Amino acid sequence: MEPGVEAAAARLGRARRVTVITGAGVSAASGIPTFRGAAGLWKTYRPEELATPGAFAKDPRTVWEWYDWRRQAIAAASPNSAHETIAAWSLRFEEFTLVTQNVDGLHELAGTLGVIRFHGSIWILRCAVSCGARPDGWEDRTAPLEDLPPRCPECGGLARPGVVWFGEAIPGDALESAWRAVECDVCVVVGTSSLVMSAASLVDEARARGAYTVEVNPEATPASSRVDCAIAGRAEEVLPEIERLIRARA
Ligand code: OAD
Repeated sequence: MEPGVEAAAARLGRARRVTVITGAGVSAASGIPTFRGAAGLWKTYRPEELATPGAFAKDPRTVWEWYDWRRQAIAAASPNSAHETIAAWSLRFEEFTLVTQNVDGLHELAGTLGVIRFHGSIWILRCAVSCGARPDGWEDRTAPLEDLPPRCPECGGLARPGVVWFGEAIPGDALESAWRAVECDVCVVVGTSSLVMSAASLVDEARARGAYTVEVNPEATPASSRVDCAIAGRAEEVLPEIERLIRARA
């Protein structure tokens, strides 16, 4: 068993308010490449070169080809034991919030309640020229997409993915709800490189407000030295192990 698992289970076992923050590592075992690992490279591009308004303005087709590639990987994927454990926690704790940076929808598919999507959804499209006809965008689960780049059904202008790009603001309501949710007893941050703001600052805020903080990640991150308990392991192994111990103690 990884060091820290016992301590995390003990804290969670007596927690009332729990907040979990996730990143791409949670979906790695479902076959979805993380952004910053070697598998995150697509053709010769890094995500930081594609997930920006500037990249889309310059070459919407290439940006859409990348999203179409990710959409196809996600369409073929199912939630793994990390998503399932988090879904069980969302039912167990008196107050539970999941703040996810993932746009794949696998947490929702696993049945997790209380999901705050920080970076939107890859299954939502929006009008890139903001014609205003569908301000919240529309759902499109076609994978692969029939026409690249896809178009707004109202005005015929370019459509864009309904995700938050580098340099764009996190939706205000998501940010506000996340800020409220870090007022908790235990905050668990899982599978994120903790490099991208504002998600990266949430665990620090939780700790500053008195929460016991746990990180689950096979690699060290900037958050590792700042949390109370850093567990070096994979989400799909560590989270079910924590859950097993919580049940054994109950
Ligand atoms: P990253 O790709 O930056 O980091 C993934 C993290 O998951 C790394 O720290 C890995 O060590 C860890 N990891 C890999 N396999 C794991 C496993 N089986 N269990 C647990 N952890 C594992 O992804 P994010 O931190 O989610 O934003 O990236 C944050 C944001 O940057 C994304 O939402 C996306 C990206 O560019 C935008 O597109 C705006």
